[in-house]
Amino acid sequence: MIKLNDLKNDFEFTDIELFRSLNLPTGASLMIERERRVIHSICRLHRPLRILEIGVAYGGGSAVILNAISDMPNSKLISIDVGDYEITGHIVNELMPGNKQWQLYKGKDPVEILDDINENYDLLIIDSMHLHPVETLNFLAAFPFLNRGAIVIIHDISMHAQSFANGNIAPQLLYSAIVADKLLIKRKSRNDFVNIGVLQINEDTPKYISNLFQVLNVNWYCPPHNYFKLKEFVLKHYDENCNILFDMAIDYAVRNELNPACLGLDIAEFYKKAFRDFSIKWQNTLFTDTVSSLSSYKRLVLYGGGQFCHHILMHLNLSTDKNVCMPDEIWDINATEIININGVPVITPKFDDLLIPNEYGVIITIGDYSVCEDIERKFLSIGFTNYVII
Ligand SMILES: C[S@@+](CC[C@H](N)C(=O)[O-])C[C@H]1O[C@@H](n2cnc3c(N)ncnc32)[C@H](O)[C@@H]1O
Repeated sequence: MIKLNDLKNDFEFTDIELFRSLNLPTGASLMIERERRVIHSICRLHRPLRILEIGVAYGGGSAVILNAISDMPNSKLISIDVGDYEITGHIVNELMPGNKQWQLYKGKDPVEILDDINENYDLLIIDSMHLHPVETLNFLAAFPFLNRGAIVIIHDISMHAQSFANGNIAPQLLYSAIVADKLLIKRKSRNDFVNIGVLQINEDTPKYISNLFQVLNVNWYCPPHNYFKLKEFVLKHYDENCNILFDMAIDYAVRNELNPACLGLDIAEFYKKAFRDFSIKWQNTLFTDTVSSLSSYKRLVLYGGGQFCHHILMHLNLSTDKNVCMPDEIWDINATEIININGVPVITPKFDDLLIPNEYGVIITIGDYSVCEDIERKFLSIGFTNYVII
């Protein structure tokens, strides 16, 4: 176990050879390398016995954790995702088939199963919906099972600062509201969004846990997975004051448009359906809407052939929306090394062609925002405006 306050700013390079030995396919994790290094290093330094991961997607993050604890035979990772898709967690099955240190629960919200699993965790990683109140509810579901000194990592705490996701305040709301020791990861430049929050539970955390219930009174952008189970869980694990704040939050949420009574539906069914619709939407529309918005142009280009590009292609492939087409080209400065991605040709950027009227719609799919800004400046300098930064 480590004390977070003792960590030096370069801790994220701990046992870097082991980190590099994991051959993670591009796009397998929705975290960038630096964030994966933070998770890897915290695992190496803290040596947690039980780790809880909420939000798995393809399983790239799970693979990073399992790799980091591969020489700690007593350590185990428990991963939970409400999604119950074939692709949920598939990266672990591909890279580490039959890994005995991993238990995956699909199609479940943490409140539905943490009582039954009944473990105590030294490390919690939350990377789920990004829409309030989901992250806060995820933390409240895990908190009764966290050991004193447990470390909590919250991903995407700066997602709201990125142009495509400015409603996604849930991770930052949660990170701000927990009373704990927090690690200040210094940014490297003004364009550097530090997107991962690391904190350690201390003796004040339980004293001020009602702050989290206060935060639940901020507008909800997404219904809970299982309202009845959630209420049962809060009654069982939290005191009367927390329950008063929780009931108030539910009343606000219900009054504030998510009103099942108005629709004459059973409340649990309503929430369940709304959540499923929302979850699928969240997974798909972020990219499909962007693609549709550029559909009037003859050629659709993804600029950047890295992780985001792979991720977008995967979603477009799965989409059933008939307005959604696959891109015609991927532009990448390393095009000579990459011939195609998912069958889409990768070529070097062709700035001169952008001036052909109505020919090109471009989606910039590069994680480093300063690189996006450079490309944007180049576009604007030649008068090209049919682009979106994602
Ligand atoms: C951003 S992805 C996770 C990415 C993953 N951590 C990685 O490293 O690639 C978010 C995932 O959280 C899941 N999710 C959303 N709400 C959830 C909830 N209440 N409980 C568990 N998982 C949830 C979604 O189904 C989705 O697969």
